[in-house]
Amino acid sequence: MKILGITMGICSSAALFTDGKITASISEERFVKKKNYEGYPKHAVDFCLNFSGVSPDELDYIAFASSNVDPDYVITHSASNRTVADWIREMHEYWYPIFYGGQKRAYVDVFKDKIDFKQYPGNFEGFPFGSPDRIKFFTEFRKNIVVRHLKVPREKIVICEHHLSHAAYGLLGWPERRNNMLIFTADGFGDHSNASIRSFENDKFTLLYEADICNIGRLYRYITLLLGMKPGEDEYKVMGLAPYAKPLSYQRALDILEDTLYLDGVVFKYKTKPVDHYFWFREKFEGLRFDAIAGGLQKYVENLLVQWVKNAVNIYGISAVAFSGGVSLNVKANQEILRLGETTSLSVPGSGGDESLAMGAIFSVLLKRRVPLKEIEPVEHLYLGDKVSADEIENFIQKESLGAHYKITQITARDIAQLLAQGEIVGRFAGRMEFGQRALGNRSILANPSMPEVVKVINDIIKQRDFWMPFAPTILYEDCERYLYNPKNIYSPFMTIAFDTKPQAHKDLIAALHPADLTARPQMLKRSVNPDYYDIISEFKALTGIGGVLNTSFNLHGLPIVQSLPDILHLMKNSRLKYVALENLLLKKK
Ligand SMILES: [Fe+2]
Repeated sequence: MKILGITMGICSSAALFTDGKITASISEERFVKKKNYEGYPKHAVDFCLNFSGVSPDELDYIAFASSNVDPDYVITHSASNRTVADWIREMHEYWYPIFYGGQKRAYVDVFKDKIDFKQYPGNFEGFPFGSPDRIKFFTEFRKNIVVRHLKVPREKIVICEHHLSHAAYGLLGWPERRNNMLIFTADGFGDHSNASIRSFENDKFTLLYEADICNIGRLYRYITLLLGMKPGEDEYKVMGLAPYAKPLSYQRALDILEDTLYLDGVVFKYKTKPVDHYFWFREKFEGLRFDAIAGGLQKYVENLLVQWVKNAVNIYGISAVAFSGGVSLNVKANQEILRLGETTSLSVPGSGGDESLAMGAIFSVLLKRRVPLKEIEPVEHLYLGDKVSADEIENFIQKESLGAHYKITQITARDIAQLLAQGEIVGRFAGRMEFGQRALGNRSILANPSMPEVVKVINDIIKQRDFWMPFAPTILYEDCERYLYNPKNIYSPFMTIAFDTKPQAHKDLIAALHPADLTARPQMLKRSVNPDYYDIISEFKALTGIGGVLNTSFNLHGLPIVQSLPDILHLMKNSRLKYVALENLLLKKK
């Protein structure tokens, strides 16, 4: 079966399923160079088909995620073109009147200046923006875009429910699959709900619970804004800030939150229902310090999710757990779920936000058509994007006269390891690009994790990360035992679960641990998954005795991860990064 998956909304993406597995997946943001781009992912669709050698007429289905996409957000680029100031404006001019003034303005009226009719497919003009019918209209409109782009029969397009797609990705987006699982989803909102629990037994999904009041994602989003950071993007910074707060300092914030959403079994309920998630909490949190708010919020979210999973495992009697949807990006909550006595395993597929709905929609179609699980390969790795060929590199070097500014030499894994051992920072661009928000070695900046000083150097020369934010390690699978407490022996390849670390890690990996609680959000790396990257770390281990490297995404602050040769050149021109390992060449700034 050949299925193309598409998601259009926050971080529009495409994926392709052929020969029993996902063969390609990529987000449109990489092509248009706008983080979280929400327009139709034309380039991503074209890439997935071309790379996999599949023509549109060979497709059995086109799985389009979500029945309920709001065109008002797409036309105003609400995910890719918002500053913190825009978000504040949205709160005051759009949401405040709704919640406190008894009146509603059309979203497109508030963001008139952001309307972009020119985006592909370029015929948004005359669309019923702001009208109640717009969402139904937009579903048909999205189908029309696909029909026009791919010249496929309309009947082949299947609209896939948002949370079912998240759940299907939760089940199949992880290398170690089980036929008896409990799958949780939670996010900001998608197709009328924001949380679900499903069981998967005997090749069949059963919906056990669905909610539209599990406002964990929404709460996190607006408290991110309250703390002066960007919703939909900076939630991980609030999570990174939380471990600095001690229980005494965050107790007040926790008390306020615990008076709101709570759990009765697996059912979310409210003690006191906040009028909204911004103004209401702004008033309640007045006078509380930023880290206390972050610490209280994180503790509250961990407690809720842990309680939810614990109660569900006890009620439904299934202890192998999977988690997907935007809230599954909370690696510290995932750590607590894994720690539970009730869970025997935890799967948290990579990039569980809406970008992975392209894969999730494909899986949901397969499962709905009762394709047996054994005929679907789970996602073993996320190296599903594009790559550049040796010829392209050679031509680019000539065309841009790179030799004038960079010393270019052949390089081996050993050479890269040597640079890292000496404390140099190296950008690596090799093989196929990783899908999703985490760089997993192929579009990564690498450094020696035993040197605390590299954190400042990386921040100074390129990343400009916030001062409290941790980096993360890639650890050779065979060395995880030395560094991580992992009593359930979980193989976690996508940096989606945090782990407590052992004393050896405090010595070897200190620059890639959270400075406050010394946890790590590791990428566990098996050689079979990415031999070239593995060999670099293996050589690094031979030189230093350290079985891991610091790995952070290869991008300039605020831009998506580098995707093309011009992207690398732009990054090198606009940063002080000295070394880039480009496939088997080393570019060293002269
Ligand atoms: Fe979602």
